Amino acid sequence: MEKIIITGGNKLRGEVNISAAKNSVLPIIVASILCPEKIIIENAPMLEDVVVICDLLRELNCDVDLSNHNGNLNINTENLRPIDTNCELIRKIRASFLLMGPMLARFKYCKLSLPGGCNIGSRPIDLHLKGLKALGADISSGHGIIEARAEKLYGNRIYLDFPSVGATENIMMAAVLAKGTTIIENAAEEPEIWDLANFLNLMGAKIEGAGTGKIIIDGVISLKGISYKPIYDRIEAGTFMIAAAMTNSIIKVNGINKDHIRPLMEKLKECGIIFIEENYSVIVDGRGIKKPVDIKTMPYPGFPTDMQPQMMSFLSMVEGSSMITETVFENRFMHVAELARMGAKIKIDGRTAYVEGVKCITGCEVKATDLRAGAAMILAGLVAEGITEVKDIYHIDRGYVDIEEKIRKLGANIIRVQE
Ligand code: EPZ
Repeated sequence: MEKIIITGGNKLRGEVNISAAKNSVLPIIVASILCPEKIIIENAPMLEDVVVICDLLRELNCDVDLSNHNGNLNINTENLRPIDTNCELIRKIRASFLLMGPMLARFKYCKLSLPGGCNIGSRPIDLHLKGLKALGADISSGHGIIEARAEKLYGNRIYLDFPSVGATENIMMAAVLAKGTTIIENAAEEPEIWDLANFLNLMGAKIEGAGTGKIIIDGVISLKGISYKPIYDRIEAGTFMIAAAMTNSIIKVNGINKDHIRPLMEKLKECGIIFIEENYSVIVDGRGIKKPVDIKTMPYPGFPTDMQPQMMSFLSMVEGSSMITETVFENRFMHVAELARMGAKIKIDGRTAYVEGVKCITGCEVKATDLRAGAAMILAGLVAEGITEVKDIYHIDRGYVDIEEKIRKLGANIIRVQE
């Protein structure tokens, strides 16, 4: 096992290049199942979750080549066989359940083990199944396995009780080859939904309205192989913006779509952070006085739940009282206990955390309890007095490429070691 060791107190300076968005690349890789031709995904991030989903496609007899030198991922699903596997890989990552829609579209059959929950919540799939049933799938489950089959998939109108990102993606991928028109109402509006639809449209799909609450998909007969460059990772970018804010530094973040990251930037401006915006970059000036703020996580375009732990790290060090309400996941406060070990003053009442800023936190041994909580602990270590050891960093590697390398290049005293 590995851990990350940080000696706090260094200022940051220089530039950081943001990788492609994990939550775009994963569904785009899965969507390659819809087209038995060669597909190239450019600038693919070497993330643990990407490696797992690629291994899964290989298990299903696809050719997948993640070439290191140019970061291109070459996929050919021509020899893909219908999934009938309960393989361990499926249970490893939640995104594996996105296989259901495209496998149904291609083979009219799919058998998957139920995706594990994870520590941030139960992660149900009822909305995924509601949508796939509406398109004509018969779904049965038992012994931890979900089996779906359909004579044919037909377009339909589907209302999502919650704008679920995964359910929107699964239904959209199943609908692109269905007969007729599908309308998804109360669809998720995250930029990664737009990116997946853009990828599918360039392959020949007919999808309108992605990125809004109403998506219209006209089914087509087939798709063609393309080369595609996914959008940048707005959550990684936000994590580095908060690193500048916490260390009172000025850095340049390259790889930004300002519309995608607007909710976070507006909140950080309220805290006193200054941004100098350029085309696809932004200079983040975190040297000023910081002010406490209240945050409520919401589906896009609200404040992103994936930035909640990192923001809590930051607000733990901002004098005054801040309130953070987590409305998306029911158990996304596990980083609070870890921050408290370092001296943060945070009280939880249901889905709300009350943060009292402290002048100083001290380094100690802490755990990454999940992906974004792990990032929050690294951020805390950057400003803690003394040495912070972050364990269970496999969580962090699921969603950040070489995070300690990128932070070290900005001037932090941070290393990764074997435990
Ligand atoms: C995606 O997860 C992201 N993961 C998550 O990022 C992100 O936090 C989440 O969207 C919200 O933005 C990927 O894209 C791989 P949801 P997903 O379905 O699709 C409820 C990260 O750190 N729900 O929008 O699983 C569910 O319980 C990860 O990068 C149902 O009730 O999220 C949750 O409360 C963490 N029924 C809420 O919706 C369903 O059928 C949000 O879930 C599906 C979801």
